[in-house]
Amino acid sequence: MNVSAGYIYLVCIAEKINPGYSEVILLDNILKAAEIIRNAKSVAVLTGAGASTESGIPDFRSSSGISKKYDIPSEVILSHSFFMNHTDVFYDYYLNNLIYPDAKPNECHIALAEMENLCRLSGVITQNIDGLHQKAGSKNVIELHGSVKRNFCMKCRKQFSLEKICEEKQNIPSCDKCGGTIKPDVVLYEESLNSRILNDALNLVIDADTLLVIGTSLVVYPAAGLLNYFRGNNLIIINLGSTPFDRRANVVINDKAGTVLKKIVEELKKH
Ligand SMILES: NC(=O)c1ccc[n+]([C@@H]2O[C@H](COP(=O)([O-])OP(=O)(O)OC[C@H]3O[C@@H](n4cnc5c(N)ncnc54)[C@H](O)[C@@H]3O)[C@@H](O)[C@H]2O)c1
Ligand SMILES: [Zn+2]
Repeated sequence: MNVSAGYIYLVCIAEKINPGYSEVILLDNILKAAEIIRNAKSVAVLTGAGASTESGIPDFRSSSGISKKYDIPSEVILSHSFFMNHTDVFYDYYLNNLIYPDAKPNECHIALAEMENLCRLSGVITQNIDGLHQKAGSKNVIELHGSVKRNFCMKCRKQFSLEKICEEKQNIPSCDKCGGTIKPDVVLYEESLNSRILNDALNLVIDADTLLVIGTSLVVYPAAGLLNYFRGNNLIIINLGSTPFDRRANVVINDKAGTVLKKIVEELKKH
């Protein structure tokens, strides 16, 4: 039995002897996380798809995630070569699975926006492309993988809104100026991250004494690799599933991001 399986086993036994025991551990971890954040000099946040599932946008790897519904893995359909060679199939998948124009920020996004006024939060680095952190009011958001809100013509670089892409449900979206194919400003598999944006994210992580990681499986690189540059004392991970970095964390909370973040903010407001 590994360490985390052993821990879960012990919690299950404790829960049998004393129902409500796991609730006590959860609350204790929330209080610990709030205390760390309250005393931090610089908190950097890294979010992933799990931060937006409570807004109705599925993640990739959970049991209800997008990857389980298709024969072709998301990594293939959402790759640069697939976009270039099968643009119509790409758009069909993209519009039906990654675009949620009516999605609203959930308690996780709202709590993070509120935290800017409650602690020394230096910024939110997100792997998400849905724009929900900004919609909730977060000011310094670094979008590692771009945004569905921005789109551009591959020939003349003219910019287009998400509404324009959604209008063209039946066709490949094309430029009204030159006829070129429009590409979403999101980083596809096989493409590299914008070096300026990656650098901004790196600086935020390097300067932080506390790193708050939310809703990410930490298996997508180079985003997950940012954790290797963290030199601070306090790593907090809030994620439903386990991650390869759990052992390095001071606090790991395996619960819903929205519920947990809301409680952390309530604690921060008390002092
Ligand atoms: N909303 C979006 O913009 C969106 C959605 C799907 C995928 N993506 C892209 O796909 C890639 C996937 O990487 P990833 O690591 O972010 O996602 P992932 O799908 O690999 O992992 C998501 C993680 O979030 C956890 N999770 C799900 N719901 C949660 C909740 N309510 N509270 C806490 N944790 C929860 C899951 O246990 C899982 O470990 C990223 O590159 C991202 O750009 C983005
Ligand atoms: Zn054009």
